[in-house]
Amino acid sequence: MSAFKYIFQILLALNYVCTVFSNEKIVIVGAGASGIATATKLLENGFNNIIILEAECRIGGRIHTVSLNGTSVDLGAEWCDGQKGNVVYDKLEELDLLNMLRHEHFPVQFYSSSRSNISYEFSKELTNVFKMVHDGIEESTDSLGDVFQKRYNQQISELYKTKPEKFHIAQQANNYWAHLLLRTSGSSSWHALASKDPDYQNKAGHSPGWKYGYISFLDALMKKYPDTAHQLPIDDKIHLNKEVIKITYTDDSAPVTILCSDKSMYTAKHVVVTSSLGVLKQKVESLFEPKLDENKIKAIKNIGFGSVVKVFVTFNEKWWGNLPGFNFIWTDEDRAASSSKFQRGPRNQKGESWIVDIFYVFAIPDSNILLCYFTGEMVTLLETMDELILKDGLHYTFNLFLGHFYDIPKPLILIRSNWKSNPHFYGTNSFPSLVSTREDRRNLGIPILNFKEELVIQFAGEATSVNHYSSVQGAIESGYRAADKLIKLYKKT
Ligand SMILES: Cc1cc2nc3c(=O)[nH]c(=O)nc-3n(C[C@H](O)[C@H](O)[C@H](O)COP(=O)(O)OP(=O)(O)OC[C@H]3O[C@@H](n4cnc5c(N)ncnc54)[C@H](O)[C@@H]3O)c2cc1C
Ligand SMILES: *[C@@H]1O[C@H](CO)[C@@H](O)[C@H](O)[C@H]1NC(C)=O
Ligand SMILES: *[C@@H]1O[C@H](CO)[C@@H](O)[C@H](O)[C@H]1NC(C)=O
Repeated sequence: MSAFKYIFQILLALNYVCTVFSNEKIVIVGAGASGIATATKLLENGFNNIIILEAECRIGGRIHTVSLNGTSVDLGAEWCDGQKGNVVYDKLEELDLLNMLRHEHFPVQFYSSSRSNISYEFSKELTNVFKMVHDGIEESTDSLGDVFQKRYNQQISELYKTKPEKFHIAQQANNYWAHLLLRTSGSSSWHALASKDPDYQNKAGHSPGWKYGYISFLDALMKKYPDTAHQLPIDDKIHLNKEVIKITYTDDSAPVTILCSDKSMYTAKHVVVTSSLGVLKQKVESLFEPKLDENKIKAIKNIGFGSVVKVFVTFNEKWWGNLPGFNFIWTDEDRAASSSKFQRGPRNQKGESWIVDIFYVFAIPDSNILLCYFTGEMVTLLETMDELILKDGLHYTFNLFLGHFYDIPKPLILIRSNWKSNPHFYGTNSFPSLVSTREDRRNLGIPILNFKEELVIQFAGEATSVNHYSSVQGAIESGYRAADKLIKLYKKT
């Protein structure tokens, strides 16, 4: 340990003696954004008796930056969603980690599988129609898919009454909009999505990307960046490859016991659980002893949890030049013909090839890398299907849409996410379902107290955020909420 770090730790320990009169053990389950946020806030406030148990062999959770042919790419969270009132942004303004240019780097231009020309102006116009319709949607008992389609079809019938060609393209674009809404929600169908959640606070301002990947934000939280000499003493508190399988608590002041799959056991006065809603849905029955109360179980069942797949492919050259990417509109005829034209790989319920789910292609700036998002019913199959078929299908589809404009080489390296298949996540994010209510997220975030009204178990994580769920911001805020409750408890006494 460097002398500086040693002195820093002593200072921290002194701080602990001065401000917090407790050294009770705190166990945090999960080293994702919310777990790291809880731990860093506690450390900054003098709590030192902390253990973070993480099931994966790495920290970060749904923040997962990897290197691909020399470029940092994110298999999980990618954008710093909104600047205004965003703790993520506020923490970083001076650190120069964000790439402000990336918010402009969204593909605008639409391409049709029939290769009919769609002008740049009409592409922009379509996007504006989408925005207008989407922004005007109100709360309803009908699904987002139903409400959107009804309003959108009405809108384009009026707008393009005398322009049948435009009307036709706008109509075929319905599939694109469905995919786009699934990309942000993670739901497998827009008919399973609530039309609008009045509690959700929209992102304000730009959504920049990261220069070195989202993981740099966690480094900043842990104060490893910009100068490792100032880092919080967190490394030795994180225990990797520790999957918690049972949390046993009582109604009296006895410590909570935490059992891991490798049979190691921990005890703690306080526990903060940050596992994804997907994990809670799958494991809630076996994870807690005694069982959670009815309101929590109901919340865990009701709130939606879904998944997208991110697939990155590298090329020997940047054949798309400086374009930010491509939007694909499949015509009904080409969708129907897809499985006879490209026969390999899974098919959807309508018998169409998986390639019809290729609709959104992003160019990663300053690289030879393209990113495709897959959403919908075939997510699990796409996470596990043969890599060669995936590469060939992408190449086939890029050619179908763009082959008359570009000479497209075969992709070289392919990497993809597997959030849905990974039992430490079971998906990418939570969403408002047709049955979830605003009370559900609140109930999930309510701590479990013992008979003395002492904090025993708290729940944090993206899904417990009422206003910013499904984002890193929501995860961080929920982690701070859990830490603040503990700080308040011990400052008081
Ligand atoms: C593909 C994708 C794209 C996204 N894009 C964006 C974006 O652009 N902008 C944005 O703001 N957000 C985005 N998000 C959402 C954002 O990543 C999440 O909301 C946030 O990272 C969740 O953090 P968390 O701490 O709540 O959960 P997690 O990151 O899931 O952390 C929980 C941790 O607990 C661990 N764990 C689970 N079960 C156990 C157990 N039993 N024992 C021990 N450890 C366990 C997990 O391994 C994990 O590390 C995206 C997510 C994905 C997956
Ligand atoms: C589409 O546009 C390109 C130029 O952008 C032009 O060369 C081509 O002829 C057009 N095709 C059709 C079918 O209009
Ligand atoms: C990596 O990128 C370089 C250009 O920076 C490119 O020439 C090379 O073909 C790429 N390699 C792979 C395997 O993608």
